[in-house]
Amino acid sequence: MKGKIFKKLILLIFLFLLLGCQGKKKNEITFMVGGAPNEVAFWNKLAKEFEKETGIKVEILKQPADTEQRRQGLVIALTSKNKDPDVFLMDVVWIPQFAASHWLEPLNSYLKRDSQILKGFFKNVIKTVDVYHQNIIALPVYIDGGILYYRKDLLQKAGFKNPPQTWEDLVDYSLKIQRIIKKENPDFYGFVWQGAQYEGLVCNFLEIATSNKGGIFFKNGRIILNIPQNIKALEFMKDLIHKYKISPPNTFTEMKEEETRIFFQKGNALFERNWPYAWMLHQAQNSPVKNKIDITELPHFKGGKSTSALGGWHIGISKYSDNKKASWKFVKFVTSYKVQKELALNLGWNPARTDVYKDKEILKTLPHFKKLRVIFNNLVPRPKVPYYPLISETLQRYINGALAGKIEPAKALAQAEKEINLIVNRYEK
Ligand code: GLC
Repeated sequence: MKGKIFKKLILLIFLFLLLGCQGKKKNEITFMVGGAPNEVAFWNKLAKEFEKETGIKVEILKQPADTEQRRQGLVIALTSKNKDPDVFLMDVVWIPQFAASHWLEPLNSYLKRDSQILKGFFKNVIKTVDVYHQNIIALPVYIDGGILYYRKDLLQKAGFKNPPQTWEDLVDYSLKIQRIIKKENPDFYGFVWQGAQYEGLVCNFLEIATSNKGGIFFKNGRIILNIPQNIKALEFMKDLIHKYKISPPNTFTEMKEEETRIFFQKGNALFERNWPYAWMLHQAQNSPVKNKIDITELPHFKGGKSTSALGGWHIGISKYSDNKKASWKFVKFVTSYKVQKELALNLGWNPARTDVYKDKEILKTLPHFKKLRVIFNNLVPRPKVPYYPLISETLQRYINGALAGKIEPAKALAQAEKEINLIVNRYEK
């Protein structure tokens, strides 16, 4: 009798262990994704749609909105070779690191079987971002670029026919309009942008510096930052907060995308630098700025040219996934014409597929896409190296220090250049 119970017990433990080891079922995958609250909510809706179509359940592993926090969450899972997440979204700037670390499942063999998939995409995006050692290791989900949102009603009222072309104009318009509106609304500012110490600040700096013929350059194995054009750009960023006072004092302590977006949406700013996702939210039913806004390219300095930082998110499958087949089906679903269109219509994301831009419904519902395509002619990338997160972290620290008034802009860039080149030397030699 005792022996029988013992055998049953062993069998039960065995079954329990077997189930435990099995992890997810064959028709289940995990998808790690973050972003603004409406974006995560939309992924939940898409996951249900996908399950209905394929019978594969997608568990969403929710991440925050900040890109660096998202990267760190994934790096922990991938360095420990975790089976989860199976699929995830990646910021365009992480891809060299993820590729060089061999964390991504090469997609060539899957694409061979589904060769029609590649046809709709922006080929140059795939070529410059998603190919590693002749293998496609990710696919673009949407393309981002920095744009200027403005209150057309307020500009008109003040007698300005067009949005500002130069940064000098932006300061001028802001000072005039802010002075009047502040009398009734002390929370009102001319221009909100992303000045907190995080990745978005690098994008803002890159845009302002490039619009002054500066930028983040790599030459002869060295990074170049400490040049007069960049110093002027950083001084200007600092002046926006401390001299002209057209950007709020919490710009360098708190302002990331969502903080900026909410500030502008409340009706408390004339201009906003943000990504295209903010459009749908600004134009939502309950938004105080609905129908009072428009977009245009970011201003430039006199003699310079407007530019936007190249951003965007790509989808990839983990090398350690225990369900790559189902994961591939999900990748196909997310990059399909139908879902790309849904993402554009619901989140305002710029599709990674050229064919969606010609869609009649898209053209009708999102007329601002036409302008975006023009703005996107001048996209500037951030350095494409596997150790980019280290470069970015150093740069953020110094730029933010300069905005906070802790270090002079010229000194900040000289120091940042020096420190970053130590990092570059470590990796390039
Ligand atoms: C957006 C961009 C991304 C960028 C990030 C910075 O999500 O798509 O490329 O790194 O903003 O905050």
